[in-house]
Amino acid sequence: MTFHQPSVSALSRRFSVAPMMDWTTPHFRYLARILSKRALLYTEMVTTGALVHGDTERFLRHDASEYPLALQLGGSNANELAHCARLAQQFGFSEVNLNVGCPSDRVQNNMIGACLMGHPGKVAEGVAAMREATDIPVTVKHRIGINGRESWDHLCEFIETVSAAGCQTFIVHARIAILEGLSPKENRDIPPLKYDWVYRLKQAYPHLEIIINGGIKTFEECHQHLEHTDGVMLGREAYHNPWLLADVDTEFFGEQPAVNNRHEALQAMFPFIQQELDRGVYLTHITRHLMGLFLGQPGGRQFRRHLSENANKPGSGLEVIEQALSKVREPEPSLAS
Ligand SMILES: Cc1cc2nc3c(=O)[nH]c(=O)nc-3n(C[C@H](O)[C@H](O)[C@H](O)COP(=O)(O)O)c2cc1C
Repeated sequence: MTFHQPSVSALSRRFSVAPMMDWTTPHFRYLARILSKRALLYTEMVTTGALVHGDTERFLRHDASEYPLALQLGGSNANELAHCARLAQQFGFSEVNLNVGCPSDRVQNNMIGACLMGHPGKVAEGVAAMREATDIPVTVKHRIGINGRESWDHLCEFIETVSAAGCQTFIVHARIAILEGLSPKENRDIPPLKYDWVYRLKQAYPHLEIIINGGIKTFEECHQHLEHTDGVMLGREAYHNPWLLADVDTEFFGEQPAVNNRHEALQAMFPFIQQELDRGVYLTHITRHLMGLFLGQPGGRQFRRHLSENANKPGSGLEVIEQALSKVREPEPSLAS
């Protein structure tokens, strides 16, 4: 079993990329890290059950270059959470995060995700056990409420109970989750966003780190939110338009951009892609996460089409990506110019 060295990269939550099942896979995260050295990345949610009973190594697989990287857990059993938090540290993750925001039915049946907003004591127990088990930060990602428990007082009760167990950082998706009747996708769009509630949380609990999430698309919006909160987390926009990550280090950390142009970013992935192909990963499992890179660029559509039509053919390798790259205009000048 190989354990990575614990992360030495600076961990800041000023800008993070949200955990997204099937999307923030190691392949997407590798690209994201090439584009920004400073954005905090999150894994997809992994359930404690999968880690306790399943193929732990496979579920925790990541590349050391991805740091700072947080592992997101789904679960509510304090002993299992403690065990998984310990694994997170052993495997080198920079943070362990508990999912209290995901509304899917499958997840509710096992007392995982947003339904836990109705059980602040259980979340607190889990957090306390995780904190006891590990030295890395333990954070919670949650909603502003669930149907039936959607008052300001309920939210404060949740924050106070969970922070009393030692959680200092709350990542708040600024809408409630409706546990019956809406699909997970609808639950990310239909309940209205209430950013002012997240701002109020920061005012009411200034000693806590409050990160805002939900519906954020532009840097201008990010800067507005940063006037009221400690950090922004972007999900869908970062996935569909990953090139925006290339400006994060300059825009939010005052540092040099990590990469000059999209071609360079993709070419920097080649050794990793080859390594993945060599261990039997299908090219299409990797390229599906690269589709957004040339969004809105001349030739971007041809780039995507070439990948969709060819990456799934047996034996496809890096040449398919090289051909796709030739469909988009030559590298644009560096970001700095
Ligand atoms: C495809 C997809 C999968 C998601 N999976 C997770 C997950 O595993 N854990 C989690 O906490 N949130 C998950 N989310 C929710 C996001 O982390 C985020 O809270 C939500 O999309 C709102 O942010 P956005 O508007 O910037 O996308 C998922 C969202 C999407 C689109």
